[in-house]
Amino acid sequence: MEERLKVLRSHLAPFPPGASQSGLVSQTTSAQPREGHADVARPVSVTYHARTGVNSREDYERLHRRSIQDPAGFWADFASDFHWERPWRRDHARWNFDRRCGRVETAFFEGGRTNIAYNCLDRHIASGRGRQPCFLWEGNDIGVDRRMTFEEVRDEVCRLANWLKSVGVRKGDAVAIYMPMVCELPIAMLACARLGAVHTVVFGGFSAESLAQRCADCRSKVVITASGGARATKVVPLKQITDKAVQLASKDGFQIETVLVLEHPSVPKRECPWRQGRDVWYQDVVPRQSSNCPVEWVNSEHPLFLLYTSGSTGKPKGVVHSTGGYMVAAAVTTRYVFDLQPGDVYWCTADCGWITGHSYLAYGPLLCGARSVIYEGVPSHPTPARCWQIVEKYKVRQFYTAPTLIRALEAHDDKFVLGSDRSSLAVLGTVGEPINPRAWNWFFEVVGEGRCPIVDTWWQTETGAAMITPLPGAWPCVPGSATLPFFGVAPVLLDDKGKELHGATEGILALKQAWPSAIRTVKGDHKRFEETYFATFPGYYFTGDGCRRDANGCYTITGRVDDVINVSGHRVGTAEVEAALASHGACTEAAVVGFDHDIKGQGIYAFVTLHDGHEFSDAIRKDLVKTVREQIGAFAAPDVIHWAPGLPKTRSGKIMRRILRKIAAKKDDELGDISTLADPSIVQGIIELRGK
Ligand code: WTA
Repeated sequence: MEERLKVLRSHLAPFPPGASQSGLVSQTTSAQPREGHADVARPVSVTYHARTGVNSREDYERLHRRSIQDPAGFWADFASDFHWERPWRRDHARWNFDRRCGRVETAFFEGGRTNIAYNCLDRHIASGRGRQPCFLWEGNDIGVDRRMTFEEVRDEVCRLANWLKSVGVRKGDAVAIYMPMVCELPIAMLACARLGAVHTVVFGGFSAESLAQRCADCRSKVVITASGGARATKVVPLKQITDKAVQLASKDGFQIETVLVLEHPSVPKRECPWRQGRDVWYQDVVPRQSSNCPVEWVNSEHPLFLLYTSGSTGKPKGVVHSTGGYMVAAAVTTRYVFDLQPGDVYWCTADCGWITGHSYLAYGPLLCGARSVIYEGVPSHPTPARCWQIVEKYKVRQFYTAPTLIRALEAHDDKFVLGSDRSSLAVLGTVGEPINPRAWNWFFEVVGEGRCPIVDTWWQTETGAAMITPLPGAWPCVPGSATLPFFGVAPVLLDDKGKELHGATEGILALKQAWPSAIRTVKGDHKRFEETYFATFPGYYFTGDGCRRDANGCYTITGRVDDVINVSGHRVGTAEVEAALASHGACTEAAVVGFDHDIKGQGIYAFVTLHDGHEFSDAIRKDLVKTVREQIGAFAAPDVIHWAPGLPKTRSGKIMRRILRKIAAKKDDELGDISTLADPSIVQGIIELRGK
């Protein structure tokens, strides 16, 4: 524990108030920041009338106060918008965040039975919205698109659910989904939910090793995939990767029995590798199923999905989310944060492989009856104008994305934005990492023409829904600040000893009260769940983020205080990258830290020592990067490999990452005290190898 707190101390205050966190120009991107948009965080008031009725800080405070004082009553009011086959108990909300008082747990809507797929689809159909579109799918290539209505999606969900049943999938079973961003991806999630099966979506950028590990961990015998995926001009051979994953899992003693393959035009049937008896074409079996599939009503606390995420240590954890609480929180946050009303055209650019794609592409918008744009490709394909062309084509009202995308598009000429009509835009949103004020100001002024509030939403895979976020029009936006806690959220700032800090200050962000979509457990390891989130500061949920609070009570997230790096808004655990590097035959040891990266927010910087007899060379460097790509995925590939004669360690053998972070940031004059190292001379040796 003491070690962990030391790590926290060394991470606190990574950048001064008001400053941009991106200082370095990366070594891997040609995009340079342009002059023009100020890197200052001045509050901005926008006149925006929210249809939710929350239009002032007073409106908000009234609701927030009630949500904290009477969570059971507050959330029950919202939950009654949904269909419950059996109502919840009056005292339905229960939690314990203190390990010293017994098992850590959270429950909402206890006693209630419902089904989220029913509430996403059938409920709207019953109220006469069945013929309205809910998915506006835009393919990778211009001119390829598809619209689906609530009824069409429900029918397809039922057909797929019937097929899943036919191969033995039952309530509680895990099903892995490894697909490109096509309509069938959220459909597969909903088909699982309809049966009470637990989906685990694996992002299409993950490698065979990662897919195998996840399938084995949750014992998913069925994988739903596609022949391939299209990303700009590249093809992702998803089926080929799945085949390798099946093989790897079986080597580890876990058998994946059935692979359902959607034929995707990027890899036609005849070119797709095939294993008779195990593989099944989606197009051959699903359309033949009945479009009638009775709903499996589940208890509110029944697990809805698993999503694997990286932490400070060890293998990725399977974060378990519940059904009822998650449903209500996903819907209520979508409605209030984006001011989303039924029929609105809403676009979230996230992939369903991440939590944002779960809560704000698949579930939230459907629960709210929105028309949701689903884009298969990459934002700059074929030109950096694509996003804004899509906004114009569908008349998008709410646009939700990640700072990394904003920075990438900002690096191009504004003409790419100005060429499309963006007058439909009303609310802009960001998520996944701190946004630097310059990118925020560009997003606000150029994309949003200075009229759209920006909701900078702070949350996590574990929180399931937005936690600290502006509500559009209710109070001024502050570039880079998530501002105020959402309903039901009780944030505190702690010092490194776990003492609550008050007033304007900076500390470690923790949450002291449960909210409906809180993580329920870690798949197969409740002890790890308790230790990861509730042991650092007993009685609090530990977020892993540093945070500042100003005199107005507004919160600004400053970045992770643990060994997690946020690369383009994707969470990467340094321990996982280190393990991948160390598995390479030439590598003795590796230490990975984050460094400021102009586009990605943070990049991955790896210090590597080699076994005797191996020379530092570009060939080994390439091979090391390849190893990480194979074991985790391309997004986790190190940006920099810095050869090291040895790693700076304390006498007890602990790597001093604080020093490595400074070296990575080229702040050699800020190394601080290195006299406690077992061999202080190593530091100079590492510095001398910079750029080699
Ligand atoms: C970071 C993504 C600053 C934070 C929904 C958190 C943010 C981690 C923001 C969770 C934000 C997310 N401002 N940082 N608005 N949103 N983060 O699990 O470090 O992929 O702990 O969930 O992203 O990442 P995850």
